[in-house]
Amino acid sequence: MIHWPESLVEPLRARRWHSEASHTNRRANNDVFNGSTRPRPVRGQFAHLFKLHPGVSAVYAVDELPERASKAVEQLGLDGTMGSFDELLASDVDAVAIFTQRWTHGPLVIKALRAGKHVYSAVPMAISEEQIAGIIDAVRETKLVYAMGETSFYNPATVYARKQHAAGKFGRIFYTEGDYVHDMDLGFYEAYQYSGGENWKATASYPPMLYPTHAIGGVLGAIPGHAVSVSCIGVKDDRGDGVFDKEVSMFDNDFSNATALFEMNDGGAMRTNEMRRVGYPSHIRESRFRFFGTEASFEQLATTTLWQDKEGSWTSRTRWRPSRACRPMTPRWRTSPRTSRCVHLRPRSGARRRTAPR
Ligand SMILES: NC(=O)c1ccc[n+]([C@@H]2O[C@H](COP(=O)([O-])OP(=O)(O)OC[C@H]3O[C@@H](n4cnc5c(N)ncnc54)[C@H](O)[C@@H]3O)[C@@H](O)[C@H]2O)c1
Repeated sequence: MIHWPESLVEPLRARRWHSEASHTNRRANNDVFNGSTRPRPVRGQFAHLFKLHPGVSAVYAVDELPERASKAVEQLGLDGTMGSFDELLASDVDAVAIFTQRWTHGPLVIKALRAGKHVYSAVPMAISEEQIAGIIDAVRETKLVYAMGETSFYNPATVYARKQHAAGKFGRIFYTEGDYVHDMDLGFYEAYQYSGGENWKATASYPPMLYPTHAIGGVLGAIPGHAVSVSCIGVKDDRGDGVFDKEVSMFDNDFSNATALFEMNDGGAMRTNEMRRVGYPSHIRESRFRFFGTEASFEQLATTTLWQDKEGSWTSRTRWRPSRACRPMTPRWRTSPRTSRCVHLRPRSGARRRTAPR
């Protein structure tokens, strides 16, 4: 018998779960919990999926705001609520899932592991080296399962780049970019007001680089490797509305945008951006990834993606056909009178007529 609390809901086999979760993530819709226009809390979407999992016999919800837990049970058909995190840890549940605010995960995860529970946590893992070390030590000592749910692993661009990399289509990937471009005006104010109460501005100034996993996860989800050094630049905010104001911020933070450059273990470079004040349609796509290899490159933008190599470039918008008419001086390509697109003239001797990489 497995009991799962709502904001701490998650089955052990999160890894397999994730594939569905990431898709639902992107199609956020109105919050059924309180009718606001902000995206539906991610925890609700996961709880719904866990409830469907054949390996899960019961899902329980816990929230410091009990009405939210009861509403989740009602809305998602969960099996009940528990009064508190401590009551949950004292119960016979096998595992817990943590979907609390992003700066609160570390201590809750360590406490749950030390209480003998397997743990799944929303990103980020934690917000200090000490907390991260504490989780690693707890996992090593308890031999329990800990999983952090980075949904970018399933971003279509990351999935495609992972496949192309495995097939050797990029050559050696030496430079990558990952961006999480989520402007505060596009849902973040509401998200922080939803759980921040009176004091929401102090929380809404959460340092962008303490939420780095979507940008990094979308890159490292496609290419093996890890970073060995980093330098980062923070951009001071100048909106002047009390958010990202050092005097107000509970994190003493006034950076609203930040850029980091990582050296990778294979000698390559990765650049990531965490942007919260940015003219970008993050309601269409809030993450974007680029991969540059010695033989080909791949770039994701808000509404299209580009595969490029030394021959030409293709966009997903045109279902992998050349994106526009041939630029002059492009040997072996001509603009098709029928499609006014640039098509390969004549395959090199014996080569099959070229279509775009699938
Ligand atoms: N794609 C993604 O991976 C993705 C997307 C959105 C949010 N997130 C992450 O998911 C987490 C939750 O996001 P959200 O928008 O649902 O947050 P939220 O602020 O809407 O909900 C957090 C809930 O946790 C409850 N809570 C806090 N501390 C608690 C405790 N000790 N015991 C019981 N309940 C507690 C709060 O009352 C609140 O209802 C955040 O860490 C966020 O970073 C990830």
